[in-house]
Amino acid sequence: PASTTPLARGDLSVGGVPVTEVADRFGTPAYLLDEGEVRARCRAYLRAFPEAEVLYAAKAFLCRAMAHWMDEEGLGLDVCSAGELELAVTTGFPAERIVLHGNAKSPHDLAAALRLGVGRIVIDSASEIARLAAAVPTGSRQKVMVRVVPGIAAGGHVKIRTGTDDQKFGLSLTDGSAQHAIARILGQPALELVGLHCHLGSQITTEKPFLAAVRRLVGLMARVKDQHGVTFPELDLGGGHGIAYRPGEDALDIACLARKVRAELIESCAAAGLTVPRLIVEPGRAIAGPSGVALYRVLAVKRTAHRTFVAVDGGMSDNPRPALYGVRYEPRLVGRSTTAEAAPVTVVGRHCEAGDILATDVPLPGDVRPGDLLAVPVAGAYHLSMASGYNLVGRPPVVAVAEGHARLLVRRESLEDFRSRDVGL
Ligand code: LLP
Repeated sequence: PASTTPLARGDLSVGGVPVTEVADRFGTPAYLLDEGEVRARCRAYLRAFPEAEVLYAAKAFLCRAMAHWMDEEGLGLDVCSAGELELAVTTGFPAERIVLHGNAKSPHDLAAALRLGVGRIVIDSASEIARLAAAVPTGSRQKVMVRVVPGIAAGGHVKIRTGTDDQKFGLSLTDGSAQHAIARILGQPALELVGLHCHLGSQITTEKPFLAAVRRLVGLMARVKDQHGVTFPELDLGGGHGIAYRPGEDALDIACLARKVRAELIESCAAAGLTVPRLIVEPGRAIAGPSGVALYRVLAVKRTAHRTFVAVDGGMSDNPRPALYGVRYEPRLVGRSTTAEAAPVTVVGRHCEAGDILATDVPLPGDVRPGDLLAVPVAGAYHLSMASGYNLVGRPPVVAVAEGHARLLVRRESLEDFRSRDVGL
């Protein structure tokens, strides 16, 4: 990723700021967010999909600055809770450019969405239809989409595959639940069905499944037109665009994806006699992931008969992804130069369980020692948004780096934060 520039051997700068400076000023562990990289990635999406609506999937990482940058860059937002929604709207993000997702939206989520006036609510289950319709104030209409499960297996790990029937999201095309839900929504005066949605999964590294999804959803649109005489103006293909976590790994080429999806959409619509709907895409990881760097301090080095453990001051509470999905990262020593030869080590966190591993068998200089700084690139997506309070170590701060300056966006979680929520005795 362009966000990390080696300054000299052993040193690293992000957004023009040496990471050692961030560690000294804000402590470790810390997460750096390269504002220029975030913005560049947004612009690359808008260039690749000039006629589409690009929504940033806030679940990848959200803070007020991030919402503000997305607004400035002209993206919309995909949120999946009242929390994400309210954070964005209270930062000034226009609600009409927000889409609410979720397989189990709470009454509070729906009420907040209706009160704040979100642009679209994506219906995920049959039971949600009447519940939402009843919550819409009389006399008004809420724009909705239907989340369709197209029956396509794609995605980097079984836990993040959502295009096949045997998983909790959406309404199946195969068993007819999607068609049934569409008919019911069309009968609800309080709901205006503007299009179909699907999200195949995450960390997808080829275009093929997206093209298959276009064909299946356009097929469904054609059947809806025949049966109900209705054509949808929008088609949302979700996110899931894969990125490289380590040098040499595959990533999805966004410009190429956009070209192929556009061609497929035009062709399928022409064959079905449909007007081409407005395309929507919802990337999260591909915007936030490569824009973030995690910074840790080494606390202990332990050489055992089996391996060398390098233990750092963070771990699975700030990055649960290796434990959950077996993802491989490539931490590197920063802040000092060394001539020591690289040797394989296992980088572990500070949490009270053996599965708290950040990187297995990765090369680090043989003289790695307590006090050293380690940087983990491609740490901007689904780390802090999935962070936990495990062992009360406190969530790390988020520091924006841009044009040689660092500024605090989210402060480190303190014991006082925990104590203030702990109200019983
Ligand atoms: N749209 C919808 C409806 C989604 O459910 C998601 C992700 C996205 C868009 C954005 O997908 P992305 O472009 O970021 O792949 N925690 C997992 C990823 C879970 C993704 C959930 N939904 C991980 O760390 O890999």
